[in-house]
Amino acid sequence: MLPTQALPEILPSNPLVLAAEWLAEATRRADQPNPNAMVLATCDTAGQPAARVVLCKEIQPEPGLLRFYTNYESRKGRELTAHPRAAVVFHWDHLHRQVRVEGRVRRTTAEDSDQYFASRHRESQLGAHTSLQSQPVESRAHLRQRLDDVIARFAGKDVPRPAHWGGFELWAETVELWVEGAARLHDRARWTRRIEDGTDGPRVASPWSATRLHP
Ligand SMILES: Cc1cc2nc3c(=O)[nH]c(=O)nc-3n(C[C@H](O)[C@H](O)[C@H](O)COP(=O)(O)O)c2cc1C
Repeated sequence: MLPTQALPEILPSNPLVLAAEWLAEATRRADQPNPNAMVLATCDTAGQPAARVVLCKEIQPEPGLLRFYTNYESRKGRELTAHPRAAVVFHWDHLHRQVRVEGRVRRTTAEDSDQYFASRHRESQLGAHTSLQSQPVESRAHLRQRLDDVIARFAGKDVPRPAHWGGFELWAETVELWVEGAARLHDRARWTRRIEDGTDGPRVASPWSATRLHP
């Protein structure tokens, strides 16, 4: 039996407050090893979509963005640089919930990337220097050799953030929250707002507007 769940009858004014609560609840319950895993879809300049999993490091209800980190030279990094729009989806199977977010993307500041990079395990820091993410690699042995070289280069020193590695922010323009219901009567609502290009990056140009949808 499914638990009887639904979205609040009066839809909340900011959907990312609820999305952040759902992420916190999934993290607390620890039913899955990576509750912050989300599928990230990007598009190349020909319009070909590609999707992969990344870890969401923060949902910030104000100003309404999600943050994740990657290699700027990877396929996703290049696609987001050329075409700064993306869609993400979280699915918490045990909680019978899905969150979809679409919007505009920009790189986080160098300070933010430095701060987050410094908080990572040394192994991950060394990996960021080792991996030319998404490029062909001739063998596992070659990759191991690259890692050994990186370990030797930084022996006894802090590992600095490589310039090709950092964060992206997804500024939400559309959010959809979905709750599984009995007899396929799922509860589903979509929130939209406008984001404009400001002089200093994306700017929120309108408040959220909510609509309940047929499942
Ligand atoms: C659970 C999980 C978490 C992942 N987290 C990240 C991440 O936070 N950042 C990242 O760059 N890749 C992450 N990856 C690897 C990506 O899915 C992907 O393989 C890689 O980033 C290369 O993608 P691209 O060639 O499309 O750029 C993760 C994979 C899994 C399965």
